Amino acid sequence: MHREDLKRFRSWFGAYVWRFYTPDPLIRRGIRYKAAHTGRVCRNILQIGRSLGLGEGDLLLAETIALFHDLGRFKQVFRYRTFNDRLSENHALLGVRELEAAAILTTLAAEDRGLILKAIALHNLPALPPGLEDRQLLFARLIRDADKLDILGLFAAECARAGGPDPLLVAALPDTPGYSPELVQSLLRGELCNYAATKNLNDRKLLHLSWIYDIYFPYTLAAVAREGYFRAIMRSLPDTPEIRAVDARLQEHLQRALAACTPTP
Ligand SMILES: [Fe+2]
Repeated sequence: MHREDLKRFRSWFGAYVWRFYTPDPLIRRGIRYKAAHTGRVCRNILQIGRSLGLGEGDLLLAETIALFHDLGRFKQVFRYRTFNDRLSENHALLGVRELEAAAILTTLAAEDRGLILKAIALHNLPALPPGLEDRQLLFARLIRDADKLDILGLFAAECARAGGPDPLLVAALPDTPGYSPELVQSLLRGELCNYAATKNLNDRKLLHLSWIYDIYFPYTLAAVAREGYFRAIMRSLPDTPEIRAVDARLQEHLQRALAACTPTP
């Protein structure tokens, strides 16, 4: 694909998003969140891609995936007034359908189009399915890391906010005391938490902490560590022996993972 294609996609995206602005404050807030998120994910994916030494063509492809990865969010919040996929529909697949209906990608080579749609469809799955081809895997990993990096930053800031996170961003989960022991056990085993088991805001924090086990690229890991996102989320959890054990386990994992991707002199 060419730089001209990306320019066209950006202007189409701007007009598409504009269609969903209504006087409803919740919808407007949701649209503003996701438009800003998209911009940051575009920057993240370019930085990760450059850290890997990707060429111009692949960076354009990666940025297109980032631009469109949450396209479904706009219609989702407009139609259902939530970002909770379980209470509405899978926003990744909704976005793919919107792109296909608009036929915006038809000027691209079939292979590029396939990579873009595949990466978008896979971006919000708990884990990537087996059997992906090398380039499908590369772009799926790029968008998942770029997306996580931004969500973690936003979520860490929301956790530190007086009054707690915006309910729209945390699927309206109740801010009740305690947390699910099942999620703590997953974290201690070094596994991703089960999204379906999250029952309150603390569970959502644990789920986001478990993303540390699902980061693919050294750039992302280093950025997350540098910015202290996990630390900020951790600080907002209750101070219990279990949570302290989770903290120690995550710190150990992070240090080991960072050491593994730092070349020894
Ligand atoms: Fe998404």
